Amino acid sequence: MQTLLDRERFDDADAVVRALQPAYPVYCLRPHVIDAAARHFVAHMPGDTLYAMKCNPHPRVLSAVSEAGVRSFDAASLPEIAQVMGLSRGNEACYMNPVKPPGAIATAARDYGVRVVSADHAEEVVKIAAEIPDPAATTVAVRIATPGTEAEMDLSGKFGAAPGEAARLMRLVAEHGMRPGIAFHVGSQCRSPAAYTRALDQVGSVISEAGVRPACVDIGGGFPAPYGSATPPLADFADAVRSALDGLDLPGDCRIMAEPGRAIVAQGMSLLVQVHLRAGRRLYINDGVFGSLGEVSIVGLRPPARVVRPTGPAPAAETQVYEIAGPTCDSVDMIPEAFELPADIATGDWIEIDCMGAYSNALASRFNGFDPCTFVEVGDPPPCS
Ligand SMILES: Cc1ncc(COP(=O)(O)O)c(C=O)c1O
Repeated sequence: MQTLLDRERFDDADAVVRALQPAYPVYCLRPHVIDAAARHFVAHMPGDTLYAMKCNPHPRVLSAVSEAGVRSFDAASLPEIAQVMGLSRGNEACYMNPVKPPGAIATAARDYGVRVVSADHAEEVVKIAAEIPDPAATTVAVRIATPGTEAEMDLSGKFGAAPGEAARLMRLVAEHGMRPGIAFHVGSQCRSPAAYTRALDQVGSVISEAGVRPACVDIGGGFPAPYGSATPPLADFADAVRSALDGLDLPGDCRIMAEPGRAIVAQGMSLLVQVHLRAGRRLYINDGVFGSLGEVSIVGLRPPARVVRPTGPAPAAETQVYEIAGPTCDSVDMIPEAFELPADIATGDWIEIDCMGAYSNALASRFNGFDPCTFVEVGDPPPCS
């Protein structure tokens, strides 16, 4: 259950603390920040923007994205497709999980009008051809593997065909009377515009080897969020994509698609947690690796954080790096050198962790009965921007 507290918007996290004194984690949603990021992405990036809803599927996030004009969604499962199509009849869901359960493609096409799917194995192409009602109206984007070395998270370890195989798959799609497209994901939190240039060069080689007209080129997601360290502006990524696309000999009706997740929502939500015990440089807090901080732990992201102490002395200017211990009984639930915070942080203080809109609530479990599920709206800019 993900609750959005039914009350007026709070000004900021300090106001949330004053009103609720929460001993549980609270997601502070900033729909206005998501709106601005989505509009910025659409304005800069060539082609159609699909929001990768896996990144944060909270209903208020989806409505903010959609109010910003993004009506197409990259979905990975039938429940995601059902959620997004239930929001508005005008939405489009694309089923971009390269391996889908038997029967799911037929349901997606018949019940939700899905017309764009992905595949990276011949068996999946054959499965799609057998299940879809209207082959000529269906685009199958063949996912290619990219080196992924310039991203924090390689997303080609499990998915993506090698170039020669991808060309063969595009031909197979065409032989089954469907529309062949091509897709890649350079990896998440990719700080290098050149990674998109190289992937699009690969796309060009696959298309010419396949000898088919591509119905779409999907450049995936991966665009970075500013977790404290410098990232190139989105305009640099858009320029790289635009000039690489210009170098490809694509038909005029080839649909260009991007599937950003993190770049649209990361700054649109912070996480408010409380220190339940301080032991030297270790802070025991009420959220952790099995909750909202799984990605912070696995990937080693270090989002900026600040102390929220609306009453009492102002936090010390001197800072230290702290280890975090989450609320569960598992020793895995610890993050060494997690956050730099004031030297005088104490039991009972709150911490606002910035840039927590991506892969936080989406990944949280209910292990040991800890279920981060409270959302409020706040109206201030991202706290550490
Ligand atoms: C197919 C696909 N598209 C888009 C995304 C979104 O990636 P990001 O959040 O890095 O933009 C993902 C993330 O896993 C993905 O698997």
